Amino acid sequence: MENLNNLALERDGSTLIVTIDRPDKMNALNVETVEEFRTVFQEVYDDPTIAGVIVIGSGEKAFAAGADIKEIAALNEMNARKFAENGQEVFGQIENCPKPVIAAVNGYALGGGCELSMACHMRVASANARFGQPEVNLGVIPGYGGTQRLTHLVGKGKAFELMMTGDQVKANEAKELGLVNHVVDSQEELLPKCKEILDKISAKAPLAIGMVVTCINAVFSNEEDGYQTEANSFSNCVKSEDFKEGTKAFLEKRTPSFKGV
Ligand code: COA
Repeated sequence: MENLNNLALERDGSTLIVTIDRPDKMNALNVETVEEFRTVFQEVYDDPTIAGVIVIGSGEKAFAAGADIKEIAALNEMNARKFAENGQEVFGQIENCPKPVIAAVNGYALGGGCELSMACHMRVASANARFGQPEVNLGVIPGYGGTQRLTHLVGKGKAFELMMTGDQVKANEAKELGLVNHVVDSQEELLPKCKEILDKISAKAPLAIGMVVTCINAVFSNEEDGYQTEANSFSNCVKSEDFKEGTKAFLEKRTPSFKGV
């Protein structure tokens, strides 16, 4: 993965840390950055040595302060739909990733930044994090899936309020709303907390983890019967080697050793 101008990648064992690296622009997500996410996540899908991903913003102020307003200002009716659909596709790719993806929210997660964090499977925030969908201040609405995912996460009433007022929500309130899984006091604690969660998951059967992603996302799909998806996925798990190993290890009172097959 060469030629990334806006994302910095770092490996920590089987974890890939993806840092949005436009600190002078509050890590705003220009189209090039969104395309780089597409490239990076294709690699995450394909590379068997990557077991989980953490997405974070560079610097101490922002996770990502939205789509790039300069680019949004230049949109017209014709290309705006494509702009939104493209972002939705990439964020869908993140949401459907068969490996756990955690957003480490280290400051402002506004607009597309909030949408990116919501496309990740979980969110861990530092106390200085701020979430919001301020697009109405610009005369638009969220276009990268935010109207859907925020409503799924916080419920219809609060979603109306946040998207109509553009208000920002602090980390602890975001946790109360169900938007955030964990809050840590300082930015230094963010990556360790995310790694603690990923370490726990990495001891589980990888195929089963991928099936959890498929089934939870099926809840929000209009094309799938989630119960049917669950039954199919359950049966797929049962035919895996890891299922045999997991059940055998339990009965033999030992720790299972999963291979992802
Ligand atoms: N797109 C493009 N540039 C952005 C940006 C965005 N979404 N958010 C911040 N920037 C740029 C600013 O234009 C500024 O650039 P400059 O130094 O070349 O003038 C730089 O990042 C620093 O931002 P600044 O506003 O000076 O920092 P601040 O600490 O005063 O405020 C924010 C931080 C996040 C509250 C403020 O930048 C902001 O409200 N950003 C827009 C949020 C938004 O509406 N997002 C939704 C977009 S759809």
